[in-house]
Amino acid sequence: MTYLVTGGAGFIGSNYVRNLLKNGERVIVLDAFTYAGNPDNLKEFTDRFFLPKSYTEVHPIRADTSSWRIDVDQSWVEMTKNRWKRKFEGYKITELTQKSLDSSLKDTNLAVVIGNIVDRDLVQFLMKSVDVVIHFAAETHVDRSILRADEFVKTDIYGTYVLLEAARSSKVEKFVHVSTDEVYGQAMDKKFKEEDPINPRNPYSASKAGADRLVWAYSQTYGLPVIILRPSNNFGPYQYPEKLIPVVITRALRNEEIPVYGDGRQVRDWLYVQDTAKAIDLVIEKGRIGEVYNIAGRNERENIYVVKTILKLLNKSERLIKHVKDRPGHDRRYALDDIKIRELGFSSARFEDVIEDVVKWYVDNKWWWEKILEMDTEYKAFVERWYSENAEQP
Ligand SMILES: NC(=O)c1ccc[n+]([C@@H]2O[C@H](COP(=O)([O-])OP(=O)(O)OC[C@H]3O[C@@H](n4cnc5c(N)ncnc54)[C@H](O)[C@@H]3O)[C@@H](O)[C@H]2O)c1
Repeated sequence: MTYLVTGGAGFIGSNYVRNLLKNGERVIVLDAFTYAGNPDNLKEFTDRFFLPKSYTEVHPIRADTSSWRIDVDQSWVEMTKNRWKRKFEGYKITELTQKSLDSSLKDTNLAVVIGNIVDRDLVQFLMKSVDVVIHFAAETHVDRSILRADEFVKTDIYGTYVLLEAARSSKVEKFVHVSTDEVYGQAMDKKFKEEDPINPRNPYSASKAGADRLVWAYSQTYGLPVIILRPSNNFGPYQYPEKLIPVVITRALRNEEIPVYGDGRQVRDWLYVQDTAKAIDLVIEKGRIGEVYNIAGRNERENIYVVKTILKLLNKSERLIKHVKDRPGHDRRYALDDIKIRELGFSSARFEDVIEDVVKWYVDNKWWWEKILEMDTEYKAFVERWYSENAEQP
């Protein structure tokens, strides 16, 4: 079987691709390499990346900006150019053709394509060669969506539409859409079931909710063989250091203050990334077409508990914790009822049983996150802007 994995150079996507390759599957990754997509995440499998001709005629960055990001200013272009140069240093970028795609798949079982899911021609071209689609690609950071939502709407909703249309006119056997538990909105004292109404409360979750329902509509309207997954908060190796767990680890290792929203008592259900990968394989094998499956880690923990656990593992003082103003529209709790997937045989790791290994991965792989922090001026600007705007006034 050949898989198309969108967003396969991001956090969950690259962990999933690793599993597919270990199982001997053939994989085409389509990833736009936004700030969150990283060739280093797939370094152990390839040093070659494919760029469509339409992108190579102009500079790839120009293509990236002109084809879909119309309201871009010059400073953004400069920032992106620098980031790309550094990001792909030491890697080979060659032209994407049917021949280069086929020979890469034949030689290594993998072809990583630099491209955007909103690019209709490219998506249609790739879709011809695949049996199963796993759709991870998205803008994913809630805080960024609050500052500026346009890319969330374009990628998460419109990009999903482009993929669905291409899948509809091809021989795709299964289209697995990775949605999120955040589409339900905040859970007060109940756990959400798949049939509960969705009630997203921030631009990220609203965009994901739009995509989630669009995917479902394609199964109802056109009979597209889709399965929708709603996982809870993932954690594990290769997570971009803007999300809670890598933020805490990487800042603590540098003895920097650790921002905690409000009282830190927001509850998230932590799901180990390898368990998400297992769940995807399980629904491909046993899941029912047209269904939604929640995936819970069954590890509901308060953020402050997570922060303190990590500090203890790293032997760092809790004095590093700095409470900052709560995020607007911050959901207090997400909680899922995941009986449906458990009935297929799903099980998940206990947070306390895996967090030590995850922390160790970041300690052992400083090169990975230090490079991100160093090259990504946009990230630094974002962190400075976000936390200064949200700093608690004394
Ligand atoms: N991380 C979590 O806790 C979590 C929980 C539930 C659901 N999800 C969902 O899982 C998926 C993956 O999340 P993640 O944490 O790995 O995200 P991530 O931000 O680490 O990775 C997203 C990837 O998508 C790529 N991408 C973004 N826009 C693109 C575009 N227009 N075209 C092609 N590629 C594009 C990025 O370059 C990146 O590689 C997302 O759909 C997210 O909503 C994540």
